[in-house]
Amino acid sequence: MANLIELDGVDAFYGKSHVLQNVSLHVGEGEVVSLLGRNGSGRSTTLKAIMGLVAVRAGKIRFRGKEITGRAPFDLAKLGIAFVPEDRRIFPNLTVRENIRLAALAGRKGPWTEQRIYEYFGVLGERKDKPAKLSGGEQQMLAIARALIANPAIILLDEPMEGLAPLIARNVEDVVRRIREEGNTILLVEQNAEVAMSLSDRGYVLSNGRVMADGPIERLRADADIMQRYLAV
Ligand SMILES: Nc1ncnc2c1ncn2[C@@H]1O[C@H](COP(=O)(O)OP(=O)(O)OP(=O)(O)O)[C@@H](O)[C@H]1O
Ligand SMILES: [Mg+2]
Repeated sequence: MANLIELDGVDAFYGKSHVLQNVSLHVGEGEVVSLLGRNGSGRSTTLKAIMGLVAVRAGKIRFRGKEITGRAPFDLAKLGIAFVPEDRRIFPNLTVRENIRLAALAGRKGPWTEQRIYEYFGVLGERKDKPAKLSGGEQQMLAIARALIANPAIILLDEPMEGLAPLIARNVEDVVRRIREEGNTILLVEQNAEVAMSLSDRGYVLSNGRVMADGPIERLRADADIMQRYLAV
């Protein structure tokens, strides 16, 4: 399986604070890979490092084998890397359609069209001409839709169910599952380790910005020591 994304010994910093230490990982075409770990373990920072949003001072990041370390977010989006940050970054004063079109401009052409987005996310279709002043769940659907319309090669998805009521969180989980089943490549951060593992093929367990374990989900799940020490499940 060809690697889409590869981190090789990455060190990343917020100012002087050394957050990621020697992080190496890869995501193959068609895989869903989870970054597992407790709060503050460095999961979001790993996604931001890939997306050029934190300073990488050592190591290399590659996309399809080519180095992309430190490239600008816009260039990375054009290459096919979509990032759905925890805070969703939608534009509430623009309409749903304008939100989608802006994301399409930054991305690539492919199977995802505006029409397909509105069919896939019915609630967005119903509201396409209304300002994107949406409920939490609808905002998350719009954030995911903005990633898809860019026809990415890989989606970096940071805590898509965060802050949603249980029923709404289940809807978002179903969407992620469906996107996965269609063969999309995802690097996922999800706080609920059980949910994260049920959505993934492989995982990397982070603690204090280091990779402590990695492997197929069944192998991680079967390791009671790892589960207890780093995931508290
Ligand atoms: N903007 C920032 N400036 C300085 N330190 C930061 C910043 N953002 C995160 N950190 C620190 O970096 C470390 C890793 O944070 P990160 O956001 O990657 O954690 P996480 O695994 O995503 O967990 P969570 O989302 O639950 O906070 C933490 O110690 C955090 O306090
Ligand atoms: Mg985080």
